[in-house]
Amino acid sequence: MQQDADRPRQADPAAPVGFFDSGVGGLSVLRAARRALPRENMIYFADSAYCPYGGRSGEFVRRRALAITRFLLARGAKAVVVACNSASEAALECLRPAFPGLEIVGIEPAVKVGQRLSRNHRIGVLGTSLTLGGKRFSRLLENFAAGMEVYTQPVAGLVESIEAGRIDDPRTDAIIRRNLRPLLKKGIDTLVLGCTHYPLVKERIASACGPGVEVIDTGEPVARQLRRRLRATGLLRLSPEAGWVEYFSSGEPGIVAPVMRAIMADPSLQVIRRSLQE
Ligand code: DGL
Repeated sequence: MQQDADRPRQADPAAPVGFFDSGVGGLSVLRAARRALPRENMIYFADSAYCPYGGRSGEFVRRRALAITRFLLARGAKAVVVACNSASEAALECLRPAFPGLEIVGIEPAVKVGQRLSRNHRIGVLGTSLTLGGKRFSRLLENFAAGMEVYTQPVAGLVESIEAGRIDDPRTDAIIRRNLRPLLKKGIDTLVLGCTHYPLVKERIASACGPGVEVIDTGEPVARQLRRRLRATGLLRLSPEAGWVEYFSSGEPGIVAPVMRAIMADPSLQVIRRSLQE
């Protein structure tokens, strides 16, 4: 039965937009949203206690996505951005009916953009096993990858490395190089970053690819989609003041906060712990 707590209380433009991911990866989307919508208030939830999602079952990720969305709604969120390809793959179809009336924006690997940009029709997609093995992703390929050679690659260890704060680190470069090798051998000229953690090391991925490969991430298109949805539903915040951001995590703030501070370039950033029961 639908509970009142699962419905947005009222359409209030001053209410925050909620974002969530398995960990710090969704900050790549939050950063783009902050640039596109500087007046919006935002809440970010990192499910660090259960990160990574990529090797987990769809059922597990769906349960976490429901619990987190319920939490964001209880904090007054007027819209939710699923800033995680794996959670979008596993949970979008159940989140929308579970929270009727809530504006939910998901994310998917930018295969359409890859198809448009590729000159030699060979593209690579990096993502988690959950995303690349999912139904949404295979539908995306059926609909938008006709005439293309698409090579997919889960990047073992990269999410963990980024979560540990090894963003500017030769060990992370080694993981990137090892995982790119099979795609580069296929002669791809376009690489789609199908996990929100990967844009946090986009420059390192681009330099490992070399100048002949265009690297695409989805932070900005998702931020534009959020702006369109807020405008269309009358929820855009028009106040002249800059918006605030609150950060929550199911993990240990002493571990998560320093990584988030580095990514957001904000030494004063604080993280509040919330375990969130399902
Ligand atoms: N950042 C996430 C994604 O976009 C999840 C990575 C993970 O937890 O495995 O898929």
